[in-house]
Amino acid sequence: MDDQEILETSEAEIAVHWKEEDYIHPSNTFIAQANMTDPTIYDRFSLDNFPECFKEYADLLDWYQYWHTTLDTSDAPCWKWFVGGKINASHNCVDRHLTQHKNKAALIYVPEPENEAHAVVTYQELYIRVNETAAMLRDFAGLKAGDRVTIHMPMVPELPVVMLACARLGVIHSVVFAGFSGQACGERIADSGSRVLISMDAYYRSGNLLEHKDKVDAAVAVAAAEGQTVDKVLVYRRYPGQYSAKTPMVEGRDYFADEIVSDYAGSRVDPVPLPAEHPLFLMYTSGTTGRPKGCQHGVGGYLSYVAGTSKFVQDIHPEDVYWCMADIGWITGHSYIVYGPLSLGATSVMFEGVPTYPDAGRAWRIAERLDVNIFHTAPTTIRMLRKAGPDEPAKYNYHFKHMTTVGEPIEPEVWLWYHKVVGKGEAAIVDTWWQTETGGFLCSTMPGLHPMKPGSAGPAMPGIHPVIYDEDGNEVPPGTQKAGNICIRNPWPGIFQTIWGDRDRFVRTYFEKYCKNPESKDWRDWPYFPGDGALQAADGYFRILGRVDDVINVAGHRLGTKELESAALTVEEIAEAAVVPVADDLRGRVPDMYVSLKPGFDASEEVSNKVTRSIETIIGKIARPKHVYIVPDMPKTRSGKIMRRVLSAISNTMEIGDVTTLANPEVVEEVRVMVQGEG
Ligand code: WTA
Repeated sequence: MDDQEILETSEAEIAVHWKEEDYIHPSNTFIAQANMTDPTIYDRFSLDNFPECFKEYADLLDWYQYWHTTLDTSDAPCWKWFVGGKINASHNCVDRHLTQHKNKAALIYVPEPENEAHAVVTYQELYIRVNETAAMLRDFAGLKAGDRVTIHMPMVPELPVVMLACARLGVIHSVVFAGFSGQACGERIADSGSRVLISMDAYYRSGNLLEHKDKVDAAVAVAAAEGQTVDKVLVYRRYPGQYSAKTPMVEGRDYFADEIVSDYAGSRVDPVPLPAEHPLFLMYTSGTTGRPKGCQHGVGGYLSYVAGTSKFVQDIHPEDVYWCMADIGWITGHSYIVYGPLSLGATSVMFEGVPTYPDAGRAWRIAERLDVNIFHTAPTTIRMLRKAGPDEPAKYNYHFKHMTTVGEPIEPEVWLWYHKVVGKGEAAIVDTWWQTETGGFLCSTMPGLHPMKPGSAGPAMPGIHPVIYDEDGNEVPPGTQKAGNICIRNPWPGIFQTIWGDRDRFVRTYFEKYCKNPESKDWRDWPYFPGDGALQAADGYFRILGRVDDVINVAGHRLGTKELESAALTVEEIAEAAVVPVADDLRGRVPDMYVSLKPGFDASEEVSNKVTRSIETIIGKIARPKHVYIVPDMPKTRSGKIMRRVLSAISNTMEIGDVTTLANPEVVEEVRVMVQGEG
């Protein structure tokens, strides 16, 4: 695998810097206050006690009606959790906290401009806003349980309010990251069958008030072309009452949400008791084909899993100030800004901007001011902060007891900076490995129980039983440091239920490779294959090596190479396109794009720019390639397959290997010189 080769190199580098036995221990102060310090939790969650063990998580929630069947496998591998149970996520994240925590901050919103005041949304205020918004969605937009709604919003408090309002009604929300283009949003609208789009006029990023409403028209047009009509667009305004976008509102389709919701002032909407397996949301993620997959999460299982992991792994206590710097438009934000922390009645901080604007001290000023003590971010951000201001944290008077890293493998030296400088040597760190599909953490140390090992995610979570398989389905013996494909033997409540509208793809992508018997209704025959390579050390800790499929993890965001290539192929001049991941100091991996031209066209900067622009329009700026190389021809096998492995070796200045069997070996050297220069 291309990715694998690169990763093996960085593994070797890790080995030089870090010895397996060099653990770092959480402080006694941390352990003394930790939510979970009982090692028997792993026995309670052993396979012998499966699936009943997960009652311990579900019991953190309020249920209208208890379930009769913990796990129903009759439609394997579409697992149903807590069947017979009735629950509502909005009630669990809002209403149930009113008796004791009405005046407590649920959300603290930090706008990007430093001269704008923080907005504190108490649980009472959240309750009012969620109710009024639910009334608007039900009575103005005509939404009811089971309908889907697409939400294309940036980091503003209205975003979790809208999500919780949907959850209250049983409306299935599909939040699309604001950085995605209108076109990408439109494809997701069409796939989910949403007739309502909720958007925003503008938001701040790096000092600019970016227009966002302009994406609405493209989104609605793309959805229409795919057969899905959007009849209502609700547009929130960054400054209510003042429209900050240039794009005109469309009469009879676009409405100012802040205006409409005021018609519902004082409305109350009872949370709908929903069957535990009712879908809570869809979250689209990239796969190996051009089309993103709508991962469908069910309310009872998902909420139980994120509540449990937020309590035990994030170690959230009532008096903590918890700040996860992810965007709510990704799964981390859903699980660990909104649903996990709020289900526990915690205070969750939301930040509009980027952590390095206006300078590398911004994040630490926020931490100092709000007295944040739990901090959660991704390796890419840590690398950026380290580069922009390695000594900044020391200038600010904040103290974290706990920090998280998530989304990509973290290099031990970056981990050590995070620990020593950001955490001031005091914070316990968890490196959490999981995915959009898995709802919550799969591997992580339990911070009050395990020592930390930089660069290793840690052991499996309680109730998660991984196995490493080789390509042929043989089990790699545990603890042998031998790389293979990591799978999970058993279902757990946080796992997604299916791919929206595509059960076959769900089975094919995640289960087919290691399924022991496709007819079986026994979960033991259906190990879950997440698509990552991993190895396990003798101490039981897993080191995640990265994707083994055609997905590139760019700055912790998943992009399918096919999506990028299809976007390049929409440019008139382009005949062929191939994308490979190239290692990047800050962003982990970034895409390098190789294209060849149709006859009659000449290479020019204009053509490369067109490719980049097309990717920005079709996917979004996050997918922008590092380079676009216009090559005379792609290196190909005799059967005409593009050799991405060769291109990857060229991009990453690695050994190219034997190319004599290719159809056009001479082209390899030409491309190499183009990319690396002579020599
Ligand atoms: C990768 C993000 C190493 C992995 C929560 C996975 C990680 C993909 C880690 C999921 C980690 C996530 N160490 N790699 N701690 N966490 N990954 O769906 O390749 O955006 O499959 O979910 O990110 O990305 P997703």
